[in-house]
Amino acid sequence: MCCDQSKYTQNNTSVIKKINEIASFVEGLNLKTHEELEDFKSKYKNKSGVLNSLFNEFKNIPNNEKKEVGKALNDLKNTINKKLNSFEANNTTTQETISDDLTKNTLSNSIGSCHPLSLVENQIIKIFSSIGFNLSEGPEIEDDWHNFTALNTPEDHPARDMQDTFFVQTNPSKLLRSHTSSVQIRHMTENNPPIRILSPGRVYRNEAISSRAHCLFHQIEGLYIDKNVSFADLKKTLLFFAKSFFGEKSKIRLRPSYFPFTEPSAEVDVYWGLKTESDYRITKGTGWLEIMGCGMVDPNVLKNCNIDQEKYSGYAFGMGIERIAMLKYKVDDIRVFYENDIRFLNQFSSQL
Ligand code: DAH
Repeated sequence: MCCDQSKYTQNNTSVIKKINEIASFVEGLNLKTHEELEDFKSKYKNKSGVLNSLFNEFKNIPNNEKKEVGKALNDLKNTINKKLNSFEANNTTTQETISDDLTKNTLSNSIGSCHPLSLVENQIIKIFSSIGFNLSEGPEIEDDWHNFTALNTPEDHPARDMQDTFFVQTNPSKLLRSHTSSVQIRHMTENNPPIRILSPGRVYRNEAISSRAHCLFHQIEGLYIDKNVSFADLKKTLLFFAKSFFGEKSKIRLRPSYFPFTEPSAEVDVYWGLKTESDYRITKGTGWLEIMGCGMVDPNVLKNCNIDQEKYSGYAFGMGIERIAMLKYKVDDIRVFYENDIRFLNQFSSQL
């Protein structure tokens, strides 16, 4: 870069001429590298550069000539600034793409996936529908009768404490269902046996939220009512489910338990194994994991739904979908199912 004409002479016409010459010289420059840029700045823009010294000299111009020289000087300043700006615009690495086309769709086309809870729910439904179970759904806002009383759990029954219930404040006879067993009642009052249904859905309990419990979760309820249904039928059906879901080699065991709506009642464990340290932790050293509750439908429940308990019998079972999903996908904190963290959900994108 040359042209170090920076001093005014006595003749202002030639001063203006020189300023214009510098300007057109600057305009013709093609700054390519950062070194050239720095060189340019120190020559023209910095404190000791051409522009500044011309402005300093400007004080000595007689007042009546200041206007013309000042204009030429300002033009030079603009030309220098333009040169700097155009270098920045061409070389910056953080150019915003938004300035290209404001109507451009910037969302990527990645395909979503099924939520892991839906994957598990669908798999369970598929297994039971292959042996004749149909879907039957009920409301999440229930009344006391369907959620408790008809299920052989009258008011003041201690079993009500097992399920800390959310009541609707403006209408205490309404509540958020605490289990999907309420759908049994709805279905049995509206349909005649034989009945073979599966009822998936969301349930609510007033539980402190932790890695093992949440105030909302999902269950699947099963119900089979017909003539001569026995406990052996229940056991065989649950073994079929366990083998289909957890693998052909699966074993189950039934432990006596208590639910107001079934008699006898049992809890179902699946054999998980005791090979690793985490198997010990998950199964509390037993090798067995509880997966659901079940039993023979209590005759009182059949009576409450106007089903002849002399003629018909049946079994019911209920399982938590989160619990099964945590086992299947080795998830150790229930809360991740509701956080919608894309990094968690993306891990299931290859599954249908
Ligand atoms: N409703 C029970 C619960 O939420 C689960 C259950 C247990 C359902 C036994 C049943 C059953 O149908 O027979 O804990």
